Amino acid sequence: MARNGKVTVVGAGFYGSTTAQRLAEYDVLDEVVLTDIVEGKPEGLALDINQSRPIEGFETKVIGQTTGQDGSGYEAITGSDVVVVTAGLPRKPGMSRMDLIETNAKIVRSVAENVARHAPDAVVIVVSNPLDEMTALTQLATGFPKNRVLGQAGMLDTARFTHFVAETLAVPVSSVRTLTLGSHGDTMVPVPSHCTVDGKPLTDLLPADKVEELVVRTRNGGAEVVALLKTGSAYYAPSAAAARMARAVVEDSGAVMPVCAWVDGEYGISGVYLGVEANIGKEGVKKVVETDLTDDELAALKEAAEAVRAKQADVQTL
Ligand SMILES: NC(=O)c1ccc[n+]([C@@H]2O[C@H](COP(=O)([O-])OP(=O)(O)OC[C@H]3O[C@@H](n4cnc5c(N)ncnc54)[C@H](O)[C@@H]3O)[C@@H](O)[C@H]2O)c1
Repeated sequence: MARNGKVTVVGAGFYGSTTAQRLAEYDVLDEVVLTDIVEGKPEGLALDINQSRPIEGFETKVIGQTTGQDGSGYEAITGSDVVVVTAGLPRKPGMSRMDLIETNAKIVRSVAENVARHAPDAVVIVVSNPLDEMTALTQLATGFPKNRVLGQAGMLDTARFTHFVAETLAVPVSSVRTLTLGSHGDTMVPVPSHCTVDGKPLTDLLPADKVEELVVRTRNGGAEVVALLKTGSAYYAPSAAAARMARAVVEDSGAVMPVCAWVDGEYGISGVYLGVEANIGKEGVKKVVETDLTDDELAALKEAAEAVRAKQADVQTL
């Protein structure tokens, strides 16, 4: 079987290591590189994942590489088709994603500069929080074309919404389609007009107040996990989303996914990174896909764009 492509995951914490594991287990890539600033951590995790290969039956190798604050070790990422940036602190109970902005901006800026130096042709998928701001900052710090920098949030929010609907109606997750646009957090925009169960509108199957309850639970989906874990944040569902996005880039699949992408006129919105559906392929975002929205949904998306725009304007100074 031919394997193609190299994906680097920066940050070997819970999100990064599970992303590397998922990517390796797909068994479609040549190489997965996992890096971290904690000496030995990425090498140790890579060795551990590689030793699972005979049991799980995959050949893709994971290479662990410690990187220094001075950029040493970054040679390992040369030639990466995709770099997934997971470096940064996660939330603690009671914290909002915005509470992480100053600390994570320093980390993400330095990572982005090193990525630009050593993997200048890569597509960068950002997951570090606060997501929309860190995606905008990564584009600024790399200087990459905007289509080559995107963020992961919508796939996760959509998966959470789908899970909650499936649980509520006791149906398989595969029969449920949901959609969330907007941003990761308070300005997430659920799109009930595109939510279906076995092709039937969700709004015909659940009363409006129940749908709203599931929307609120989805919006707070990350905080619910953080509160239960007490230390650290979610990583199984988030890493599934980032790994699928990276695979879509390497395979140039053109799959339509909800991602944080640069919008330039779509929905009448311009000049901001926002959660929208997009075709994903080797150039990152091939095209933002506009879908029909009700007047209320469109108004909510425009409101989310303005909220996110105000926050993204500040990243230049971080
Ligand atoms: N976008 C999303 O949907 C989503 C979902 C969950 C978590 N997150 C975010 O992802 C990030 C990572 O979460 P986690 O659970 O893996 O946290 P974690 O604490 O387990 O791991 C973070 C890792 O980053 C490393 N790191 C710090 N500075 C670095 C640098 N300069 N270069 C390389 N590595 C560096 C740390 O050593 C640590 O190993 C957090 O910011 C979290 O909020 C985003």
